[in-house]
Amino acid sequence: SEPRLKEMFADDFLIGAAVNPRTIETQEELLAYHFNSITAENEMKFVSVHPAEDTYTFEDADRLAAFARKHGMKMRGHTLVWHNQTTDWLFEDKNGGLVDKATLYERLKSHTDTVVKRYKDDIYAWDVVNEVIADEGAELLRPSKWLDIAGPDFISKAFEYAHEADPSALLFYNDYNESHPNKRDKIYTLVKSLLDQGTPVHGVGLQAHWNLYDPDLDDIRAAIEKYASLGLQLQLTELDVSMFRFDDRRKDLTEAPEELLEAQAKRYEAMFGILKEYRDYITSVTFWGAADDYTWLDNFPVRGRKNWPFLFDERHQPKPAFHRLVERA
Ligand code: XIL
Repeated sequence: SEPRLKEMFADDFLIGAAVNPRTIETQEELLAYHFNSITAENEMKFVSVHPAEDTYTFEDADRLAAFARKHGMKMRGHTLVWHNQTTDWLFEDKNGGLVDKATLYERLKSHTDTVVKRYKDDIYAWDVVNEVIADEGAELLRPSKWLDIAGPDFISKAFEYAHEADPSALLFYNDYNESHPNKRDKIYTLVKSLLDQGTPVHGVGLQAHWNLYDPDLDDIRAAIEKYASLGLQLQLTELDVSMFRFDDRRKDLTEAPEELLEAQAKRYEAMFGILKEYRDYITSVTFWGAADDYTWLDNFPVRGRKNWPFLFDERHQPKPAFHRLVERA
């Protein structure tokens, strides 16, 4: 029987997977065998748990937390403040205008308190703030209702509220394109300024939505070194290795060609070589899924295009990339 990922990397970092109510059933055996950490793919996001001011819906999130307990896995929380998958009511007053800053902060505090406290025995680390850095240009922050209503200090407030709700939780700033030179400098600038203000932030989450070609290995290394220089721990929070460049919109592949599987094996080998080098800083590597039968990339950025980003195939069997990691372990 094959070696377990979580044992291969036991001296390095946790090995996680994003899960949902379906995959904890269809992939239970694989998840239990190889992974020692999970993240809820959607079920703890604002829109999922708090659809209306007086309504919390925790059924799906609770099932995922119970799955982690059943298998003795750690759990990451995802996510408290984001511009996506957040309900409109949060930002609106009774007349449909924007609320004032004090009201937004009250709502954020009560949401954070309720959600973080509910899972304080299950969740050891939270993605408190997700994706607030602007992708292009010199602008630091992405436009959002958070920013419109509160100005930039909604970010530090989110961390303070999370820390008050569970002082023992590790609190992360999480973002994508985290290895691109311009964005990594801006992420660094944001987190550095939070630390300088005394904000309780403990880690940087690198989403790591990568592909066969991007980012350059040198940029991955530079990003890790830059964030590590903040004195914080790092986690890869949403790793996948797409078979396609981001701007490649072709939909003609129905099966993973052997040469792409081989290229993916090389890519995983090189990536994990770097991750292991930085194991003093990197405490967890979470894939955004577990096996190729289910990945959000089948609908992103091209709807209905099959992708094969993981170490296990659609039948949960090890792929060339998995075997390569075993050989190099
Ligand atoms: C994605 C989920 O995987 C999809 O099912 C959902 O439709 C959209 O969100 N960055 C994040 C994750 O922080 O929450 C996103 O998850 C992927 C990009």
